[in-house]
Amino acid sequence: MIGATKAGLDVSITGLGSRVPDRVITNDELSQWVDTSDEWIVERTGIRERRFADKSEALSDVAMPACKDALAQAGLEGKDIDLLIVATVTPDMSFPSTGAILADKLGARDAAAYDLSAGCTGFMYALAQAYGMLAGGLAKRALVVGGDLLSRILDFEDRSTLVLFGDGAGAVVLEVVPEQGFLGFELGADGGGGASLWLPGSGSRLFDDPDRYVKMNGREVFKFATRVLVQSAEAVLARCGLTIDDVDVYVPHQANVRIIDHATKRLGVPSEKVVVNVDRYGNTSSGSIPLALADAAIDGRLEAGKLVLMTGMGAGLTWGSALMRWTR
Ligand SMILES: CC(C)(COP(=O)(O)OP(=O)(O)OC[C@H]1O[C@@H](n2cnc3c(N)ncnc32)[C@H](O)[C@@H]1OP(=O)(O)O)[C@@H](O)C(=O)NCCC(=O)NCCS
Repeated sequence: MIGATKAGLDVSITGLGSRVPDRVITNDELSQWVDTSDEWIVERTGIRERRFADKSEALSDVAMPACKDALAQAGLEGKDIDLLIVATVTPDMSFPSTGAILADKLGARDAAAYDLSAGCTGFMYALAQAYGMLAGGLAKRALVVGGDLLSRILDFEDRSTLVLFGDGAGAVVLEVVPEQGFLGFELGADGGGGASLWLPGSGSRLFDDPDRYVKMNGREVFKFATRVLVQSAEAVLARCGLTIDDVDVYVPHQANVRIIDHATKRLGVPSEKVVVNVDRYGNTSSGSIPLALADAAIDGRLEAGKLVLMTGMGAGLTWGSALMRWTR
C-alpha cells in the first residue's frame, strides 16, 4: 500500500510520550546467563543495554505513563480521545485488548479501542490507520501506542535472540489540524518470509512441539531489513514528490546499529539527521520508533516545519514508512 495524503483532512502529531521500565540489563549481565560478551554484542549490534519489565508489570502498565505524557503535551484528557490503537505483539493478554484496557484506565469512554499486530512495524501500521480514520472524518483525536515487552517471549537460553531485544512503549496523539502534518505512507507485508522471525505455538495453529519463544533466522532478517528500509523510504519519498535531501530527521526502526548504518549509507542520509537509541534500549519492537521519536523531541530536533521520515520493519515479514512535516 502506498499513498500521498492528498485527499481528506490534515492530520498531525500533537503530543508525544515514551516510557521504558526501570530495570537496566547490561550486556555483562546477559553474559552471565548465556555464552556471549559485551564485545560481541556491541560489535555486531551496537546494543550496550536494554530494559526488562518487572514481573508485576504488563504492557498497559508500561504504556500508561507514555499515554498520559502524550495527552498532557496535546493539552487533552482521556475523555477527549475517540480512537485508541495499540500496536504490539505482547498485549497484556489475548483479550480484552490492551487498547480497551488503556481506554478504560484513561477514561476514554467514547473511544474505539483495539490492538494491532504487525511485528516491529506495528507502530507504522497504526499511524496509517489512525491517520486514515481522522482524515476521513470518522474520528477527531486518536491515541496511537506502540509498545512491547519482548522479554516475555524471549528464550533466556538462546543467545542469538536474547541479546537483541528490550521492553518499552511510546504514544502519540493524532489530531485534525489546520496545516498538513502527514504527507504519505508506504506499508507492505511478505507472509512468505514469515518463518524467518516467528513465534510458533502462540495461536490457533497446533504444533507437535509448540514453542513459546521467538525464533529467528538472523542473517535472513538482516538481509530483508537492509533491503526494505531503503526501498520503503525511497518509495514514500518519490510518491510525495520529495527526495532524501529534503529529510531533516530520519527515524529508522532500532534493531541493530549495523542495519541502521547500512540503510543510512544507501539512502545517503548524513549521520547527524539519524536518530539512534538502540545502544540504550535494544530492539523494543513496536516501541522502537515512538521511543526514538521521543528522543528526537528531547534533543530539540523536532521543530515545526522539519520533514520527518520514519521507517520500520519486522515480523510478518512487514515494513512501513511514514513521511510527515512536524507541526509543533
Ligand atoms: C543476529 C545478528 C546480530 C547476528 O549477527 P551476524 O553477524 O549475522 O552473526 P552470525 O549469525 O553470522 O553468527 C556469527 C557467530 O556468532 C555466534 N553468535 C550468535 N549470537 C551470539 C551472541 N549473542 N554472542 C556470541 N556469539 C553469538 C553464532 O553462533 C555464530 O557462531 P559460529 O560462526 O561459530 O556459527 C544479525 O544477523 C542481525 O542483527 N540480524 C537481524 C536481527 C533483527 O534485527 N531482528 C529483528 C528485526 S525486527
